[in-house]
Amino acid sequence: MLAGKRILLIIGGGIAAYKALELIRELKRRGATVVPVLTRAAEQFVTPLSASALAGEKAYRDLFDLTDEAEMGHIQLSRSADLIVVAPATADLMAKMANGLAGDLASTLLLATDTRVLIAPAMNVRMWQHPATQRNLARLAADGVETVGPDNGDMACGEYGPGRMAEPVAIAGAVEAALADGPLAGRHVLVTSGPTHEPIDPVRYIANRSSGAQGSALGRALVALGARVTFISGPASVPPPEGVTLVRVETAAEMLAAVEAALPADAAVFAAAVADWRVANAAGNKIKKDGSGALPSLDFAENADILARVSQMALGRPRLVVGFAAETDNLLAHAQAKRKRKGCDWIVANDVSPETGIMGGSENAVTLIDANGAESWPRMDKDMVARRLAARIAEALA
Ligand code: CTP
Repeated sequence: MLAGKRILLIIGGGIAAYKALELIRELKRRGATVVPVLTRAAEQFVTPLSASALAGEKAYRDLFDLTDEAEMGHIQLSRSADLIVVAPATADLMAKMANGLAGDLASTLLLATDTRVLIAPAMNVRMWQHPATQRNLARLAADGVETVGPDNGDMACGEYGPGRMAEPVAIAGAVEAALADGPLAGRHVLVTSGPTHEPIDPVRYIANRSSGAQGSALGRALVALGARVTFISGPASVPPPEGVTLVRVETAAEMLAAVEAALPADAAVFAAAVADWRVANAAGNKIKKDGSGALPSLDFAENADILARVSQMALGRPRLVVGFAAETDNLLAHAQAKRKRKGCDWIVANDVSPETGIMGGSENAVTLIDANGAESWPRMDKDMVARRLAARIAEALA
């Protein structure tokens, strides 16, 4: 899959550096040539010898490694690569990149190149959430740098949250997506998927039966066609696709924020089953029975309609906006009305009546609705629906 591709892997100085060694193996398993570059700080975590032994290539460490080579060695080193991957991309490395600093070999290579760059950020959750890092991230995205991760999870520092480096398999998937030459190569597609959870109190929530299966299948199909996919997922029961930039959210409000942060995109597909309402009087502490038999009562507030918001953006609207309509009666009429009301280009309508077994099942029967009419597809595997839809998206963006 990556045969003949040359990856320059810049290993930053963070505890996740050990996973970069696994990444070398993962990339090589897929046929790539991997040339490792270690920052000084990275050498505190892994040795150049292990990187070079796994890669089967010389591991570069500082600018002066290159003085015995051809003139302007660092420029050749960075330009000979098909892709530069920075993993782990520490807060410090991201700051250097965003500001064009070139004080060591890694940052010099990054500044001296016009090769595409993919970063896998890894840092403590507070560092990740710090406005300075978020500013640098936005700057890097505007410069065309692609990102994979970070994931949510337990971190080596004992905290929990976003900041953990994406798994090597996911990074390798993102490398493949970045280098793919399918019809969606170079396109950014945003996908929402899964249910949302709306808290009642810290331990209870309101959810729905969406498994995220159709969204995950769609993510995979888009990656297979070469798209760069930002996959924004509620708490789904199926795994997310490989090779996407995964953003995990819980509530509809978090999903909206994640969508806004991920734009611009060439196309956006809203496969998530977003809760229409949140609990307005959600309790900060667990609601207790007080012994009197009194029943709690919930007040609801309407959530923002993410699909409608994006469809109606005055500036920066994706060229193609696709919504899903889950209906239990009057499928076509409801879905057609929904397309108009929300302002999206296409609606993928499906009947989620319990007897269809579609919600949570492996098959789907959809009708694709656009401004010109409706087209019913036969019942088929969700993977097949996804591939067909991805192909149509590729046609529409061609
Ligand atoms: N959607 C969204 N944000 C919401 C609600 C829905 O982005 N707050 C999107 C879904 O991802 C889907 C589409 O809107 O693509 C249709 O969602 P659906 O729940 O079927 O429609 P509703 O607008 O909620 O209409 P109703 O519940 O009345 O059928």
